[in-house]
Amino acid sequence: MLDKISALKNEIAAAVASNQAEVEELRIKYLSKKGSISQLMVDFRTVPAELKREVGQKINDLKNFATDKIAELKESFSAVADADVDTLDLTRTATPYELGTRHPLSLVKNEMLDIFSSMGFTIAEGPEIEDDWHVFGSLNFAADHPARDMQDTFFIARNPADVLLRTHTSSVQTRVMEKVQPPIRIVCPGRVYRNEAISARAHCFFHQIEGLYIDKNVSFADLRQVLLGFARQMFGPETKIRLRPSYFPFTEPSAEMDISCDICGGEGCAFCKGTGWVEILGCGMVDPNVLEACGIDSKEYTGYAFGMGIERITNLKYKVKDLRMFSENDARFLREFESAR
Ligand code: PHE
Repeated sequence: MLDKISALKNEIAAAVASNQAEVEELRIKYLSKKGSISQLMVDFRTVPAELKREVGQKINDLKNFATDKIAELKESFSAVADADVDTLDLTRTATPYELGTRHPLSLVKNEMLDIFSSMGFTIAEGPEIEDDWHVFGSLNFAADHPARDMQDTFFIARNPADVLLRTHTSSVQTRVMEKVQPPIRIVCPGRVYRNEAISARAHCFFHQIEGLYIDKNVSFADLRQVLLGFARQMFGPETKIRLRPSYFPFTEPSAEMDISCDICGGEGCAFCKGTGWVEILGCGMVDPNVLEACGIDSKEYTGYAFGMGIERITNLKYKVKDLRMFSENDARFLREFESAR
């Protein structure tokens, strides 16, 4: 009797089925009223009293074993059985997660970085929470100079040390200049924060890419040529640029750069307020005070710097009218960029 039980157990353990019907056959063979396990129950009556306990236990175990096995086999076919085999799509992805899209700002940032990389710039990044020295002090903002008011700052702590959210990524340039001697040729992408009222044209945070090149004999002509090259790669070979004198504490001379309006082709439209030009960046020759503050000999080296907002470039490139759309997480807006590179 015990041999018979263990032989049956081996047989059930090895049982296989290739569809639901075969599973059902197995169930009938072992577990139905006339099945082999029920048959054991019949034979059980003839087992001597002293062995009844042991044999009874074994039969019970076998029954549970068979029940589990059948359930397991059944399970493996039920999913397929539920589906209509004719409409079963075997090419469907096994992981039904929808692919997301790259954020438009990431698309444009990557494109900008590609262009500057091709010109020999490397990428440098730094912290968003900064100290006064890296955001202002080292960049020639005098302690009480009104220029500090140019960028309304979010302070995290004041006195004795000022801790703040960086207002521009020029702080990354300082960090690099403090550590590395020229030649330095970097672009610094990242998020910056300014205390501004949120509107279609301004936000309390946005993204920048700033560039810095320091070497012997770097001139304003070099700066102009790099910016022209960038503008033409970004907005097309017909793009014109225009440099207007401006002021930044950290550059001298300083300029703001306009490009011919990408929307009306320079004819004049609502976007460029009828002028045919749109401002995209600030730039200039690095002030010798900045070089000295960062431990670079200003008699030996000169350099240029420029900085621009990624949102602004994206607005121009994709005609996004409202800056707030970039941070609202509206999937309908974000999916518009599905087919962009
Ligand atoms: N840091 C400036 C800004 O945030 C941009 C800039 C960078 C201007 C480098 C000149 C040179 O507005």
